Parts: sequence; structure tokens; C-alpha cells
Amino acid sequence: DRRLKIAPSILSADFSDFGREIRAIEDQGADWVHVDVMDGHFVPNLTFGPPAVRAFRPHVRTFMDVHLMIAPVDPYIEAYAEAGADLITAHVEAGPHPHRTLQAIKATGKRAGLALNPGTPAEVAEPLLDLCDLICVMTVNPGFGGQKFIHPCITKVERLRAMIGDRPIHIEIDGGVDPQTAPLVVAAGADVLVAGSAVFKGGTVDAADVYGRNMQAI
Ligand code: DX5
Ligand code: ZN
Repeated sequence: DRRLKIAPSILSADFSDFGREIRAIEDQGADWVHVDVMDGHFVPNLTFGPPAVRAFRPHVRTFMDVHLMIAPVDPYIEAYAEAGADLITAHVEAGPHPHRTLQAIKATGKRAGLALNPGTPAEVAEPLLDLCDLICVMTVNPGFGGQKFIHPCITKVERLRAMIGDRPIHIEIDGGVDPQTAPLVVAAGADVLVAGSAVFKGGTVDAADVYGRNMQAI
């Protein structure tokens, strides 16, 4: 299903009431709920452990997209799968064995994603594509919401779309997506758009016309 999907990141939600925030973004048309897991080691910020993700699960009626920015990642895959993730994304930079990591995600029965930092070339994904349901192209350095979109990453999206060919693999964009940058990445071949600060403003949801739904036609 290559219809454009919007995946708001609850990293920018009101942390005092995730149930309400998740309901609000889904009511406003979110396709997936993006959960940013950070460990204070792979990235300089800390967020959600498996018990937090388990607490989000009953509120998510759509699809829970769990982005692991943690290293090591392998020892925690099962815990996040059991917590209720529908898709688990790990970073190719998180360890020396990304192939093994993707196999471990697949072994849980969940869908598998591979994330690439802005400094990582598209080509590293090539030998791993058969294990991937999604490639997450980071368009900011991971760790924080509200950063500026890194434009040269758009070329990487084009390369990945060509490399993927007709395989059923999503290309997700994460970081600095807003109404200005969204059309650029969709034109380059992305079909899942994560957005934190563009959707949640000042602690309240403002998904009014998130990126212009007319892009669904692309
Ligand atoms: C960054 C996270 C993103 C982030 C996006 O490390 O992976 O999901 O929340 O936030 P914005 O849309 O504000 O760049
Ligand atoms: Zn993310």
C-alpha cells in the first residue's frame, strides 16, 4: 500500500496525557503513531522504555511504529515487540551486525525497519533490503524534535527508491518534516512521513491539514 501515510511522533506530545494525545492525532487522520525510543547513549536524549510503550498500546487504534535509537539494540527487541509494537525500526549504525538485528526483529513476527542517519549512504541498505519492510531516512541527526531538515538527504531518498524497485518496502522520512519539506520528499519517493513539531504545537495537537492531504494522490 503506497498511499501516503502520516505518522505523528509523540515525542512532541503532551507527556502528561498520552492517551488523549494519541486519540487526538488519530481522530485527525494519523495513519500510524510514531514512538521515538532514545537511550542517552546512541543519542543524547532519553525517552521511553518497554513499560511506557506497553502503556501506549491500548490507546493506539491504528499502527504503532517504534523507532529504536538505542545501542546495543538486539537485547531489547523482544521487549519492545511484547510491549505491542507493530513495526520495529533499528539503526544500521547501532551495531556491527544489522543483518542479525533485522533477523531478530523478523523473528518476533513484527515488521522490520532500518534507519539511516544523515551521514550514512543509501548503499549500506542494499544487502539488507530483503529483510526490510521499511527504510527510515533520517533528515535530522536523531535525538531531538524540532531540528532543521537536512536537504542533501533528499538525494538519498531518490537512490533508495530506485534501489528498492518494485519491492514492497516503505520509505519513511523522519526529522524536520513540515508543509514545506514534505512535498520534496514525497516527490523523491517517500511514502511515510513522520512529524513531531509540525503536528504538535505548544503541547496541543494541531494537525490541521497535516502536510496537505492532497498529496495522497502522488
Ligand atoms: C528525532 C526523532 C523524530 C522527531 C521528529 O530523533 O526520531 O521522530 O521526533 O521531530 P520533528 O518532526 O520535530 O523533527
Ligand atoms: Zn523517529
